[in-house]
Amino acid sequence: MVSSRLIRLSSICTQILLLIINVNFTQAHLGPHRIPAAYCFNDKGNYTTGSTYQTNLNSLLSTLFDANNGYGFYNSSLGKNNDRVYAIGLCRGDITKGTCGTCLSDAANGLTNNCSNQKEAIGWLPNCMLRYSNRSIYGIMEISPAYNAWNVDNVSTGFDAFNQELSRLFNGLGGKAATSGDLRKFASGNATIPSSNIIIYGLVQCTPDLSEQSCIDCLEYASGGLGSCCNGSLGVRAVTPSCSLRYENFPFVGQTNGTPPPSPPLATPPANTAIPAGKKSKTSRTVIITVVAVVVSLVLIISICIYLRVKKMKEKLGEGDEILNTEALQFDFGSIRTATNNFSEENKLGRGGFGTVYRGRLLNQEDIAVKRLSRDSAQGDIEFKNEVTLVAKLQHRNLVRLLGFCLEGNERLLIYEFVPNASLDHFIFDPVKSTHLDWDSRYKIILGIGRGLLYLHEDSRLRIIHRDMKASNILLDGEMQPKIADFGMARLFDLDQTQGATNRVVGTYGYMAPEYVMRGHFSVKSDVYSFGVLVLEIITGQKNSSFRRGGNVEDLLSYAWKSWKEDTASNLIDPISKSGSIPEIMRCIHIGLLCVQPNTADRPTMATVILMLTSYSLDLPVPSQPAFYMDGGIESSSDTSLRWKDNSGVIRLDLSKSNSVEYVLDG
Ligand SMILES: *[C@@H]1O[C@H](CO)[C@@H](O)[C@H](O)[C@H]1NC(C)=O
Ligand SMILES: *[C@@H]1O[C@H](CO)[C@@H](O)[C@H](O)[C@H]1NC(C)=O
Ligand SMILES: *[C@@H]1O[C@H](CO)[C@@H](O)[C@H](O)[C@H]1NC(C)=O
Ligand SMILES: *[C@@H]1O[C@H](CO)[C@@H](O)[C@H](O)[C@H]1NC(C)=O
Ligand SMILES: *[C@@H]1O[C@H](CO)[C@@H](O)[C@H](O)[C@H]1NC(C)=O
Ligand SMILES: *[C@@H]1O[C@H](CO)[C@@H](O)[C@H](O)[C@H]1NC(C)=O
Ligand SMILES: *[C@@H]1O[C@H](CO)[C@@H](O)[C@H](O)[C@H]1NC(C)=O
Repeated sequence: MVSSRLIRLSSICTQILLLIINVNFTQAHLGPHRIPAAYCFNDKGNYTTGSTYQTNLNSLLSTLFDANNGYGFYNSSLGKNNDRVYAIGLCRGDITKGTCGTCLSDAANGLTNNCSNQKEAIGWLPNCMLRYSNRSIYGIMEISPAYNAWNVDNVSTGFDAFNQELSRLFNGLGGKAATSGDLRKFASGNATIPSSNIIIYGLVQCTPDLSEQSCIDCLEYASGGLGSCCNGSLGVRAVTPSCSLRYENFPFVGQTNGTPPPSPPLATPPANTAIPAGKKSKTSRTVIITVVAVVVSLVLIISICIYLRVKKMKEKLGEGDEILNTEALQFDFGSIRTATNNFSEENKLGRGGFGTVYRGRLLNQEDIAVKRLSRDSAQGDIEFKNEVTLVAKLQHRNLVRLLGFCLEGNERLLIYEFVPNASLDHFIFDPVKSTHLDWDSRYKIILGIGRGLLYLHEDSRLRIIHRDMKASNILLDGEMQPKIADFGMARLFDLDQTQGATNRVVGTYGYMAPEYVMRGHFSVKSDVYSFGVLVLEIITGQKNSSFRRGGNVEDLLSYAWKSWKEDTASNLIDPISKSGSIPEIMRCIHIGLLCVQPNTADRPTMATVILMLTSYSLDLPVPSQPAFYMDGGIESSSDTSLRWKDNSGVIRLDLSKSNSVEYVLDG
């Protein structure tokens, strides 16, 4: 949290000036911006020539590179109190130690020359990045300043296919780099654009001090900017302090300025890279090359055979794992009955959309929450088991963990980890408990929910649309970290997860997107809508469904929109939050309004939402009137029923019992 706060603070101040160091980089056709580049922070303080700070800086930079450390990441600090200097150096993951040392020493000279009195500076060279500051910069994800350099040549046709492959490539590489167990958070790969047969080679890298999630966030940010600077460009580098990415239409990984890469790739060097290759014409060389080529081919063939064998074995093992997992996930009904004291009233935690939830304690003293599903699922036992196994694999710190299931006769139980604090609605809508949630905690909760939802939407194995995001489905753990509950229900109940349209609408009034209410259309964007409502509820401490209070029909979204338009949005803020950063709260209101736009295309994706939340430098589009604004489609006919109206018809909902709704659409 401290770190994202710092990012947000620093990014406000740093959008000023980019200095170009030198232009000797050999890549042809670079765009208006080039690498190497240096950024001198004019607003973070200056040192004077001959000062202790300068002495410390120079000796720190000259000792930063450590020949014994082969990972290419160097972090150190030197000096005391106000004169302490912190520095980080990172070399590209595919270069040798020697190249790395040279690059960092060039960077140190170039940076101190070009930023001759700034306490903080950052420089990007083709093979490394160097930054220093008078504040600790280790372990902090920073995406500003961001800098792009690009090839001015564009793809000639097939923009869409090109962009699609590109984002697929970078999604894959981002995940790989973030989770690489290696100290290097680095990955490279290629993708073929089907329509044009262009091969794109990509590389991504994060500073290894980032967490998995921060690395992914940073890379998403870096690649997110490409649409505006370099749409369709055949080669791009995007760099930020914490991560970088690059792609080209020729292989470049492991091919830096003639130095052999640590593990030589088998591809032949391309004709169009600007590598200064010495002239070689002697026939003896040709002989040697031929011999080497034969040996390499043999080794290659043997390696492929071994690889295929190992892969096959792994696949077999993988299948075994799967079976084991389903078994391991199954709990015995008797033990759950004992754990919940025979599903006693005292152990009851509440009722959710699909059944009653009980607290329990297993014999090994582990606390659990048990959901006793209340209605028949259309699924058979095997499908149910399969779905549970899939959903149990979704693990993220902002998701409630599904530990397993239990099947016995008509009974179907889901076993979850127990999350100690109550759900979010118990806090934000309660006048006393809400005082425990200041703005910083609320912001943390908003960001956590966003990350959990992003994981559900973008996880490569399953795309889960939650379909019932609401405050009571957000649980808070001991540290008030949010955890999303009840995801995957649509899968477990076979609610047509794949079609994108259903005639059986299940949800909660106030959180459901208009296209879902009216036409049964759902998508990740309907979850984004619910998230937007949730954000506005967290900021205001008001329920969106408060329209039931009487004749005066007004809901939270309308009120938020009106206040925002009339520049009185600060009235929306829950008094307890008012001690927080007002610009930050305003930005969150703005983001909330963007999420509840009537047109799904106008709503951001969760990936964009996370970027908007973590980076002040990203300009937000101006929202228009939210869905369900009073002048639009909503009508309340009495205190307990509600009609939604648009040009496809009218839907009447009876809300006399609860806000949970379920109905079948005609046709
Ligand atoms: C860094 O230097 C600036 C300007 O001299 C100062 O305002 C700031 O407090 C310093 N930061 C730290 C962490 O010492
Ligand atoms: C630091 O130096 C730069 C350039 O020399 C100057 O533009 C900037 O105003 C100075 N900053 C402060 C805080 O004095
Ligand atoms: C990096 O440097 C900081 C500041 O000197 C220090 O606190 C931290 O432990 C270092 N981390 C590593 C992994 O060296
Ligand atoms: C930046 O640094 C490089 C490398 O030392 C140097 O060649 C170049 O002249 C410097 N540029 C400026 C504007 O000082
Ligand atoms: C590539 O596209 C950009 C805008 O998308 C344009 O400014 C640039 O001139 C194009 N380059 C070429 C070589 O056509
Ligand atoms: C592209 O990547 C795959 C691995 O994902 C690799 O096997 C292949 O050799 C690469 N192709 C080229 C032309 O580098
Ligand atoms: C990129 O360019 C193509 C073709 O001009 C266009 O259809 C697409 O919308 C552009 N994408 C972005 C993000 O600007």
